[in-house]
Amino acid sequence: MPDVKAVVARAKNEPVSVETIHVPDPGPGEALVQVQACGVCHTDLHYKQGGIGDDYPYLLGHEAAGVVEAVGEGVQDVAPGDFVILNWRAVCGKCRACKRGRPWYCFATHNAKQKMTLADGTELSPALGIGAFAEKTLVAAGQCTKVDPETPATVAGLLGCGVMAGLGAALNTGAVQRGDSVAVFGCGGVGDAAIAGATLGGATTVIAVDIDDRKLEWARQFGATHTVNARGEDPVERIRELTGGFGVDLAIEAVGRPETYKQAFYARDLAGTVVLVGVPTPELTLELPFLDVFGRGGALKSSWYGDCLPERDFPMLVDLYRNGRLPLDAFVSEEIGINDVEAAFTKMHAGEVLRSVVVM
Ligand code: APR
Ligand code: ZN
Ligand code: ZN
Repeated sequence: MPDVKAVVARAKNEPVSVETIHVPDPGPGEALVQVQACGVCHTDLHYKQGGIGDDYPYLLGHEAAGVVEAVGEGVQDVAPGDFVILNWRAVCGKCRACKRGRPWYCFATHNAKQKMTLADGTELSPALGIGAFAEKTLVAAGQCTKVDPETPATVAGLLGCGVMAGLGAALNTGAVQRGDSVAVFGCGGVGDAAIAGATLGGATTVIAVDIDDRKLEWARQFGATHTVNARGEDPVERIRELTGGFGVDLAIEAVGRPETYKQAFYARDLAGTVVLVGVPTPELTLELPFLDVFGRGGALKSSWYGDCLPERDFPMLVDLYRNGRLPLDAFVSEEIGINDVEAAFTKMHAGEVLRSVVVM
């Protein structure tokens, strides 16, 4: 049973601490992973702030890549030495959602059964079933997807959460077509990944919308052809102008606010698609004229983890990165140590970084 250093949120809104934790040896169906890199995501901050639950202490970190160190009984798909990206939860492969090819809505997902603990034996709740701000973590073997071991762990890990969510919102949920026009509302890590996904999918016009000029500047490196500062001008009008008066084929909302969702709804051409990938907070409601929902047609979709199939999408996206067609490096604003997570939260909150990545 290894003892390793890890980042723990012990109580709501307290600064996180670096502690020594116990990680059990892998049991049946489990894998022990030596974490190499783990991105700092908004969801980690939400755990710390109490926005996700009250199951403290949390073991933070969930956007990670590393090397499998050991596997438990019955594990066949991964082996010690494999370089893997971790995903939130292993799917069952047997329920109705899995059988119908929508495993991201699996009814019976699972994580490691055994619990990692603090030195005094208190059980930890791993963020999104991963807990990877740790030198080693224990996951269900089905949470590990093998990818090309030549890939830098810093960028590989990003595919495990926010970047996959954005890429998948454009490529999977939005099913962007060659020649489409696409608008993306909110240019954080998720929105920029949606911009990269739209570009990869062949969109010819990609309009980035944000309220921060620095974010709009960054959005260009992911393929934005136009930028709109929604503080300075009405984004719906500007998007219509940029698309010959019609609106875009695909509008992606990556903020999680009703105001920006409405803008996405109206910035879209008749019969276009709106994809919601920003995560709303529970108290929010959305009001839209019902007749407009009817009259404008098209599809209103939400994207859950980019509607990804890790086994299909992670290796493919890694290949695209390695062939120079997906600018994943541009998401990494800084590489930090395990002691710097609290400082990274501050920078994230101030909008100074796209991603800080903890390197073990
Ligand atoms: N119009 C346009 N952009 C906005 C607006 C607005 N009214 N309000 C905020 N933004 C921009 C911010 O300036 C920021 O660049 O939205 C962006 C949000 O980015 P981040 O806060 O970095 O969040 P990100 O990690 O990209 O996640 C986006 O997806 O996974 C969810 O919980 C996550 O809801 C969040 C969303
Ligand atoms: Zn995340
Ligand atoms: Zn299932």
